[in-house]
Amino acid sequence: MILTWCLVLLALTSTTLSSNPGVKVRLTNKGLEYGRQLGIASIQQKLKTVEIPDFSGKARVVIGEVKYSLSNMRIVNVGLPRSAIDLVPGTGVKLTIGDAFISMKGNWRVKYLLVRDSGSFDLNVNGLTITTSIAVKSDETGRPAVSIVSCAASVGSVKVKFHGGASWLYNLFSKYVDKALRNALQKQICPLVNKAVEDLNTELKTLNVLAKVDKYAEIEYSMVSSPEVSKSSIDLSLKGEFYNIGKHQEPPFSPTAISLPPQTDKMLYIALSAFTPNSAGFVYNKAGVLSLYITDDMVPKASPFRLNTKTFGVFIPQIAKQFPGLMMKLLLKTEESPKVSFEPKNATLQTSATMTAYAIQPNGTLSPLFVLNVESSVTAHLFLSGMNIAGSLSLNKMKLTLGTSYVGQFQVGTLDTIFQMVLKMVVIPIVNVQLAKGYPLPALGKIQLVNPQLQILKDYMLIGTDVQLTG
Ligand SMILES: *[C@@H]1O[C@H](CO)[C@@H](O)[C@H](O)[C@H]1NC(C)=O
Ligand SMILES: *[C@@H]1O[C@H](CO)[C@@H](O)[C@H](O)[C@H]1NC(C)=O
Repeated sequence: MILTWCLVLLALTSTTLSSNPGVKVRLTNKGLEYGRQLGIASIQQKLKTVEIPDFSGKARVVIGEVKYSLSNMRIVNVGLPRSAIDLVPGTGVKLTIGDAFISMKGNWRVKYLLVRDSGSFDLNVNGLTITTSIAVKSDETGRPAVSIVSCAASVGSVKVKFHGGASWLYNLFSKYVDKALRNALQKQICPLVNKAVEDLNTELKTLNVLAKVDKYAEIEYSMVSSPEVSKSSIDLSLKGEFYNIGKHQEPPFSPTAISLPPQTDKMLYIALSAFTPNSAGFVYNKAGVLSLYITDDMVPKASPFRLNTKTFGVFIPQIAKQFPGLMMKLLLKTEESPKVSFEPKNATLQTSATMTAYAIQPNGTLSPLFVLNVESSVTAHLFLSGMNIAGSLSLNKMKLTLGTSYVGQFQVGTLDTIFQMVLKMVVIPIVNVQLAKGYPLPALGKIQLVNPQLQILKDYMLIGTDVQLTG
């Protein structure tokens, strides 16, 4: 019901208590209000399909006892004109439904002395009020759990109008029926609410909060602590950590605390700390997939530089002399996990890598020429692509130092231009194709972001968005 879509933002498996979350999600009053509208529409639909058990009773009248029974009752209309959802700081939410009405149809049957009679009836329930408080917590697996704290229901009036049969007869007992039905209904409402909340919990328990990214990585979005409910929002603290699929190893760093700005004009805010992309860097670096062979066919045709010993021989004459007329191959490989830092309006990625250059012998053997250390700083432009966060990089700075030379002494600085070009024209475009695919945000279900805004702040990026349920 009401909370489904908002709670369906969440997560599972192991919970590391008392650690800072990698991701924070804030659901504002505006988001809750959208949830209320969806929830009320869904409750209205559900109520129309509720099956009402047959009802029978006795009424003692002047001369004897009237036995009546009502059967085949069905709801024909439900109105929920007034409802509200409010946050209850420290607990969860309070849902109030007022002035609700229900119309039903059914059949009646009566036994009085020797008379038996039957017909149909219309029943109108008016002034139905339900007030319920629902606690929102995190269960032991880091998934959301809801429970009823209190529930009160009252029915204003029940009016039955009989058709068919003898009116003197049903007039004998109609006022008893009104009262009896009113009491019976009043007793049934809170158990129904309880059942709905139990059903929601069952659904929440099946949430899969481990989002697969690719064959190496998955992201875990379980809650690391219970939701914090304030007057203006529900804040969820999620792990937001990339793991190697099937082998969960913690990186040697942990998230720094995020405190969200007091914005509430969007339905939903998602804050991703630098920890999340850094845990990705840790996983991919460990998996050994942050490496790339660069060959001449990957260098744009129009480029004046070719990956051969002739080009490099211009800068390092020994290469042209010792390895004349050979093609070359480069191996770029990260040495440490890349590190992302978020500063206001600035997302930067620092990488520390090695670039090994080889000459390709005619028989295919690779002869190493030199190894350079490449420290680079790239600016990340982050954007949203559907429910994914994606990025594109551009080179900011690059610094080369010599690791090993197999061809004697040479001036590393002379290779700056050629390696800047290799990074800009070959490496970064390949990485960008990968990054453009994006990484899933913590949202399940068929939700679409509406007018999302992305800001880079100190230590985290913030997505503020409205949402729309699409299915
Ligand atoms: C962005 O931040 C990095 C360091 O975090 C810095 O080197 C770079 O100059 C900054 N860029 C801008 C445009 O401020
Ligand atoms: C390939 O050629 C190089 C250079 O001519 C030579 O040193 C090497 O032994 C050859 N390797 C094989 C496997 O034939």
